[in-house]
Amino acid sequence: MSSEPTILVDGRPISLASVDPHQPLLHFLRERGLTGTKEGCAEGECGACAVVVVTPEGESSRFVTVNSCLVPAVGLAGREVITVQGLAEGEALHPVQAAMVETGGSQCGYCTPGFVMSLFAEHYREGRVPGEVWDEAIGGNLCRCTGYRPIKDALASLPAPGDDRHKRRLAQVTPAPAAVQHVATLEDGSEVRFHRPTTLEALFAILAAEPEAKLVGGGTDVFVEVNQLDRRWPVLVSLDSIAELRGIREDDAALTIGAGVPLSRIEDELGETVPMFGELFPLFSSRLIRNRATLGGNLVNASPIGDSPPALLALDAVLVLASAEGTRELPLSEFFLDYRKTALAAGEIVAAVKVPKPFPDVQRFYKVSKRIMDDISTVAAGFAFWRDADGVITKARLAYGGVAATPARATAAEDVLEGHPFDAMAVVRASTHLGTAFTPMTDHRGSARYREAMVTRLLEKLHADLSPRSEAAE
Ligand SMILES: Cc1cc2nc3c(=O)[nH]c(=O)nc-3n(C[C@H](O)[C@H](O)[C@H](O)COP(=O)(O)OP(=O)(O)OC[C@H]3O[C@@H](n4cnc5c(N)ncnc54)[C@H](O)[C@@H]3O)c2cc1C
Ligand code: FES
Ligand code: FES
Repeated sequence: MSSEPTILVDGRPISLASVDPHQPLLHFLRERGLTGTKEGCAEGECGACAVVVVTPEGESSRFVTVNSCLVPAVGLAGREVITVQGLAEGEALHPVQAAMVETGGSQCGYCTPGFVMSLFAEHYREGRVPGEVWDEAIGGNLCRCTGYRPIKDALASLPAPGDDRHKRRLAQVTPAPAAVQHVATLEDGSEVRFHRPTTLEALFAILAAEPEAKLVGGGTDVFVEVNQLDRRWPVLVSLDSIAELRGIREDDAALTIGAGVPLSRIEDELGETVPMFGELFPLFSSRLIRNRATLGGNLVNASPIGDSPPALLALDAVLVLASAEGTRELPLSEFFLDYRKTALAAGEIVAAVKVPKPFPDVQRFYKVSKRIMDDISTVAAGFAFWRDADGVITKARLAYGGVAATPARATAAEDVLEGHPFDAMAVVRASTHLGTAFTPMTDHRGSARYREAMVTRLLEKLHADLSPRSEAAE
C-alpha cells in the first residue's frame, strides 16, 4: 500500500501526490505537458484520448485501449500507460505511425493520436491476422475529415510485429494491481479520498468506515457525470482491482460472471457459449468503452435503456449481491424497482451475475437505434425460448428496454407462448398482450407510438429470423 503512488507513463514514473481522484487521466497527462493525447468530447464518444494500459494476462501482458477521459488518473496508480508520445524511437516513427503517414490516414490530425493508439493495440493483439481489418479495433475512434478508408488501409498494411521493445514487454508479467489509498486536499481545503481495494473483505471494511463512498466500476458512467455534470464525491472507491469481482466460472448449474469483468472480456470469452452475448456486445458502445465497462455498472446504473438488462432478463439471470453481512441471490427480474431505483441495500454491491443452465435453445438480442454501431438504444429486446424435442416452448422470456421506467418482461405474452410451438399463430397470440404490456415515453430518440410498435415488431422479426428461409440464408 502506498500513500504517494505514481503511474508509469511511457516508461517514466509520474507522481500522483495530491491529484484529485476526480481528475481523469487525460487531464492529468495534458497538465504535465503530454498534450499528444487529445480531448474531443470528454465523454467516451470520440476516442481522441485513447491510451493503452498494460494489463496482466497470466504470465504475460496485454495492451488494452481505454478512453483516458473516463479513467481516474489515481485509479491507475502503480500501473503502466503507453501514450502516443511513447511509440517513436527518437526520430523513427513506430510502424503504426509510419503506416498512417504512408496511407494518408491523417488530415487535421485531431483524431490521429487516438487512432494510432487503437491501431497500436491491434498491431500487437494476439491472434491478429496481418492484412485483415477488424473494424472493432477502431470502432471507438471518430474521424471527421480523413474518412476511414485510408485508416483501415494503414491497419491492413501492418505486418506482424517484429521483436521490438513493445513485443518484448508483452512477453513479461504484469503484476496484479496493488491496493491504493490516496488523499488529496483540494484548493478550497476540502479532502477527497480514493481507495482501490483488492479484496471484498477490504472493500467492506472501507465501506463501513466511509458509508458515503461512491463506487466506481469501469467508470464509464461515473466519469461522464464527473466531466459533463461536474459531479464530485468526498470518497471514491474503485472496484476494478478486486479479484473476486473479476472471475468467470462455469459449473453444471450456472455460468457465473464477476460484476467487475470488463464487457470486452465477456464478449471474447463467452460470445459463443451464450450467443445472446455474442449479439449484444458488438452493439454495446465501442470496444474502447467495453474494455472498461462492466455488468455491475450497467445494472446498478439501472437506466431503462441499458442494453444488458433485457438480455440478462431473457436469460433468467440471478444476481449475487454481497455486503459485509454475506451474500444473497436475487433474480434480476426483482432488481429494478422503479426509474433508476434498484433493490440494492445500503452497503451492498453486485458481486456477480449468474446465468442458470440449461441455456435457452433460442436466444436473440435486438437493438433499435439511430445508428447500428456505437449508439444508445431506442428500444432493445432480449428473447429466449426453452423448447422440448417437438419444438414446443416450455419456457419463454420476452424482455425489453426503452419501453417503461425500468427494463421489464412481457409476462402475459410469455405465458401465452408457453405450451405451443413458435409459429405465426403464436406471434399473433402474443401480440395481443404485447400491444398493452408497456407505457413507453416520447423523447428525442423515438415517440411512444414508435416504441410501442417496436415491441411487437421485434417479436415478428424473431419469427422471421427463425423461419427456415432466414436460417438457410444465415
Ligand atoms: C460513449 C458511451 C457509450 C455507451 N454506450 C452504451 C450502450 O450502448 N449501452 C449501454 O447499456 N450503456 C452504454 N453506456 C453506458 C455505460 O458504458 C454502461 O452503463 C456501463 O456498463 C457502465 O459500467 P461501468 O463499470 O463503467 O459503470 P460505472 O460508471 O463504474 O458505475 C455505474 C454505476 O454503478 C455503480 N456500480 C458500478 N459497479 C457496481 C457494483 N459492482 N456494485 C454496485 N454498484 C456498482 C456505480 O457506483 C455507479 O453508480 C455508454 C457510455 C458511454 C460513455
Ligand atoms: S475525449 Fe472523446 S472519448 Fe475521450
Ligand atoms: S483527421 Fe481530422 S478528425 Fe480525423
